[in-house]
Amino acid sequence: MPLDLDTGPIGGELDADVLVIGAHWDAFAEWFTAIWEHGHHVALIGPTRQGKTNLLIELGRLRPYAVILDSKGMDRTLQESGYRRIGAWPPPSDVWDDIADGLPAHLLIGGPVRSDQEWDRLASVISDALTGVFQAHGSWTVGVDELQITSQMMGLKRKIERNLIAAADRGVTMITGYQAPSWVPTAASRQARWLFLYPTRDEDVIKNVAAKAGRPWRDLKEALHVLPDYHVLVAGTNPRVPLVITHAPKQTPRRTRNDT
Ligand SMILES: Nc1ncnc2c1ncn2[C@@H]1O[C@H](COP(=O)(O)OP(=O)(O)O)[C@@H](O)[C@H]1O
Ligand SMILES: [Mg+2]
Repeated sequence: MPLDLDTGPIGGELDADVLVIGAHWDAFAEWFTAIWEHGHHVALIGPTRQGKTNLLIELGRLRPYAVILDSKGMDRTLQESGYRRIGAWPPPSDVWDDIADGLPAHLLIGGPVRSDQEWDRLASVISDALTGVFQAHGSWTVGVDELQITSQMMGLKRKIERNLIAAADRGVTMITGYQAPSWVPTAASRQARWLFLYPTRDEDVIKNVAAKAGRPWRDLKEALHVLPDYHVLVAGTNPRVPLVITHAPKQTPRRTRNDT
């Protein structure tokens, strides 16, 4: 598919054959929406505070039905998303009514965590949601923010791995967000069709993504080197798709309805 993005130099000497730079979000979103199939998982990989959660929110908006699992309980960036926070899966009936009327649904699952008890409850709510969303009709997109927490601290690693494999056949898309360094070779990166990589000094992470994307790792390293703040390098696993740099707009704080 030809890529016709509104591009502009953002610094650095880059090989134009491998890279389209400076893609504004709207242009990127239009391009990506056209090729991002249901069941094609996305991995967002980068150090903390680079904008992973912000991007996860914007990717979710490209889909009609998205639910983000907030494993921190009340992530601050998620709080500004305008997504509706529900206490547990399944969503309340008015959400299904909206869907039946052809409206989109953008939901958060999580709630305040002030005690061990609430922490255990959140883990079980997230676990139930992971099961339930797969049984729902429609092609939901599931955001697993902070995969390390969900996977390791909540003990849901095997469940997430099973879901990543099962989801593709069901047309459910999973977007996982996790931190680098501290790369753990997880099913999330193995199963992802799209890898969104933020600047990191951890060359093992870059090599891992490069291998998955079938690219020379030095191309990725060079591209990452010139990324301005909050920008991300997008590598598809289809080698015919160019590497793209984009950035999502920062959330303009919206009222988030809390049903919890
Ligand atoms: N595109 C952006 N432009 C400006 N600020 C941003 C952008 N994306 C994120 N931020 C800000 O950076 C901080 C961290 O963003 P967040 O998405 O929570 O990062 P992460 O999930 O990687 O820790 C937040 O305060 C957020 O508002
Ligand atoms: Mg985050």
